[in-house]
Amino acid sequence: MTQADIKYGLAGVMTDDTAVSKVMPETNSLTYRGYAVEDLATQCRFEETAYLIWNGELPTASQLADFNAREVSLRGLTDDLIDVMRKFPKGAHPMATLRTAVSFLGLEDKEIEDHATDKLYDRALSLYAKIPQIVATDYRLRNGLEPIAPKADLPFSENFFHMCFGEVPAAETVKCFDTSMTLYAEHSFNASTFTARVVASSLSGIYSAVTGAIGSLKGPLHGGANEAVMYMLQEVGSAENAKAWMLDALATKKKIMGFGHRVYRSGDSRVPTMTDSFKAMVDIIGSDEAKMYWEMSRALDETMVSEKGIYPNLDFPAGPAYYLMGFEIPMFTPIFVMSRITGWTAHIMEQLGDNKLIRPLSNYTGPAQRDVTPIDKR
Ligand code: COA
Repeated sequence: MTQADIKYGLAGVMTDDTAVSKVMPETNSLTYRGYAVEDLATQCRFEETAYLIWNGELPTASQLADFNAREVSLRGLTDDLIDVMRKFPKGAHPMATLRTAVSFLGLEDKEIEDHATDKLYDRALSLYAKIPQIVATDYRLRNGLEPIAPKADLPFSENFFHMCFGEVPAAETVKCFDTSMTLYAEHSFNASTFTARVVASSLSGIYSAVTGAIGSLKGPLHGGANEAVMYMLQEVGSAENAKAWMLDALATKKKIMGFGHRVYRSGDSRVPTMTDSFKAMVDIIGSDEAKMYWEMSRALDETMVSEKGIYPNLDFPAGPAYYLMGFEIPMFTPIFVMSRITGWTAHIMEQLGDNKLIRPLSNYTGPAQRDVTPIDKR
């Protein structure tokens, strides 16, 4: 083995089969279980996509009603978990608190060692039902507000707004949010999903795998980019400054957040749909600030594509869209988790359905083998 044989960052390496989703860089497209993601995002609610990702088929109306009833029955956090969350350091990043809270859910699960596939599905649904309340509760506690309990008569996205703000916005805003949930749900062997599969492959359990995946997603080269995009837009400051800011950033070799992708090289099929949702939010809010972020993002996009031929990824429109929906910037990646929990757990089930421990090789570059000198002779 020489260094020339090594696939650094596992780039281009195919490591397993999957039936969950297909990323097609040659056409910049993505399908979940065979359906184009943009069709699912525009024609279905996120709950239908979640059902599809786990069950392989879109639900009928009665299957969806049963599925939603099950999700509603699994909502709710224990007082113990809420008490633990009250003690979290106030400055901790919400991805770190979410990682800890999900790990705590594992402590509360009495059947943690059970790896039966039907039990995994129950736990996946339970995480999908509970994570939004963890994200909303953490937001409220950090802001000195009392948590708001979930409401059984509200669907997934509406319930999340209710638990954050005590009210549900207009249907158009909920649709923009719900669209983002579908677009973020699944993306084959990205870093966090692969992390989940690696952890699951040692038979460590679903909570360990999801906790590891949350840690992976937190980084700015992965899910953390949607937050980093918004901080970047704030730094740019005005639409007029956007082109000059971008040219300067490129000249000084800065990584521009929300651009580029390991697999897609000439565009990301999720971007047009999310950009439409971002624009819809700009029109709904209608403020000068909202219009400014829209103009700014158009100018950054055009400059990056024309100067470097590097295209925006989903985080580029999602970050400012979430900002206009009223979410604090550090909540953006936890919101991504609310959606990606579906993809992660589908992959964990797939991995454990035909498991093989994931354990690659490494090319050793340290000292040659040598003798130990006793401590009194060193
Ligand atoms: N800003 C500036 N240059 C970028 C860039 C970006 N966002 N993304 C890629 N490039 C450049 C690299 O500097 C490199 O240039 P070089 O060949 O002159 O050194 C070239 O494009 C290849 O990039 P590389 O970092 O090798 O690609 P990768 O596949 O390892 O990285 C990402 C993919 C996503 C990690 C990378 O594009 C990135 O860091 N993007 C910003 C973070 C982000 O938005 N992440 C969310 C991903 S969905």
